[in-house]
Formats: sequence, structure tokens, C-alpha cells
Amino acid sequence: MTKRPEEIALLAESGKLLANVFHYLNRLDLIGMTTMDVNDLVDRFIVDELHARPASKGQYGYAYALNSSRNHVVCHGVPSPSERLQSGDIVNFDITLEKNGYIADSSKTYLVGQVSERAKRLVQTTYEAMWKGIQAVRPGARLGDVGHAIERHARRNGYSVVREYCGHGIGREMHEPPEVLHWGMPRTGLPLREGMVFTIEPMLNEGRAAVRTENDGWSVVTCDGKLSAQFEHTVAVTRNGVRVLTLRPEEAEVG
Ligand code: CO
Ligand code: CO
Repeated sequence: MTKRPEEIALLAESGKLLANVFHYLNRLDLIGMTTMDVNDLVDRFIVDELHARPASKGQYGYAYALNSSRNHVVCHGVPSPSERLQSGDIVNFDITLEKNGYIADSSKTYLVGQVSERAKRLVQTTYEAMWKGIQAVRPGARLGDVGHAIERHARRNGYSVVREYCGHGIGREMHEPPEVLHWGMPRTGLPLREGMVFTIEPMLNEGRAAVRTENDGWSVVTCDGKLSAQFEHTVAVTRNGVRVLTLRPEEAEVG
């Protein structure tokens, strides 16, 4: 389950390219674009500018470069030419990128135009919860410590954590062991060791934690129709702590 230093170097290279994709997305004006427009731009950017591969294409029969999950969609939303983004939306773009055989995975929830204070607070708290989880990563810590840090921050702010979907090990495959739950008890679960690489990707709901899958077979939505937000990074356990392989330029100081 651990990676050699040369493998981590390759994962870091993929992660850096993926960070560039989000930097590119940051500069787009999303208002009026369809989620399929965004998908197509990202696909082209990854292939033509970065000379890499959108790893989600062809995986599990999926046809697109990203998942787009808007408002009450929790995760796995499918881009559509009829889904037009408008001011007030929140939308998560979840992207995987493969270069030299190694895959990085990251997502960010964007605020489109003028967003309500209530939606902003959910998005900000979800981002903080992901970082609470990342900051719990170090050799000797356990996966339960990571999940607990995330869940505690969510609950303190009045939100629930989605339980059906979790982070995952990553490397040559998009999904490898271990499963990284975003909830749990301190001092339980798998002990972390230097060289492990996995994602941390909490989904926080404004209302109840319960989710269901839509008829398209992909989109996961909140049962109560309230908002959900998500952020994701790929991280490596280092000798002393953690390295965020998908750290974005705007996060350089945070990390
Ligand atoms: Co992802
Ligand atoms: Co992931």
C-alpha cells in the first residue's frame, strides 16, 4: 500500500498538472456556460496543453473528463449540454489526470456569480473540513483520526457528512486501498505509514446526510434536496507529516 519515492515523484508530477487545470478553471467566467462546455474545455486543456490524459474517460464506462455536481448534487454528476450554470449556483468539478501511468484526483466547489451567504458558508466549511483531515495525516496517526477531524468540524458548524462515499488510495489505478472515511473515532483504523498516497474528499450536506442515486445511474443527490459541497486533494504521507500532491497555486500559503 506504500509507494516508492520515484512513484511519489511521478504522482506529484500528475498532481501538479491537475493543479494547473483548476488554475485554468479559476479564470473562466462560469455564468452562462453549460457543464458540458466546461467538460470540453477541461478535456482539451488536459490533452492539448498538458499532454496528459483525463483518467475518468473510459473508466467504469464513463465518457467525460470530469464530474460536475451542482447545488443538491453530492457527487458523480454528469456534464450536460442542457445544464446551464447561473449566478447563485455552487458547482463541484471533480477531475482525475493521468501522466506517465500515474493518476492524481482533485475537486473544488466553485461559487458562480452572486451566491447566498448560506451556500458560501457551506462551501467554506467543507474546504476547512478537508484541511482538518489533511492536517491530521502523519506517520503513526490512524485513518480514524482523519475522519474524526473532518466530522467534528462539520458537526460543529451544523452540517452532516455523507457516509456512502469515501476517499481512496491512488496510484496506477484511480481507486486503490485503503478506503478513507470522512467520519470515525480517534485512534482507530489503519495506521498511516510514510509512502502511502490517498485522497481526502469530504462531502458536507446542509441538511441530512442521506443521499440517493438519480435515474441516470450516476448523479448522487441529497434526499432532502438541500445543498451539498465537496473538496478533494491527493496527499502523500511523508517522513514527518503530509504532502499535498494536488496543491493549487492559490493554496501555496495554506499548505
Ligand atoms: Co475525485
Ligand atoms: Co477521489
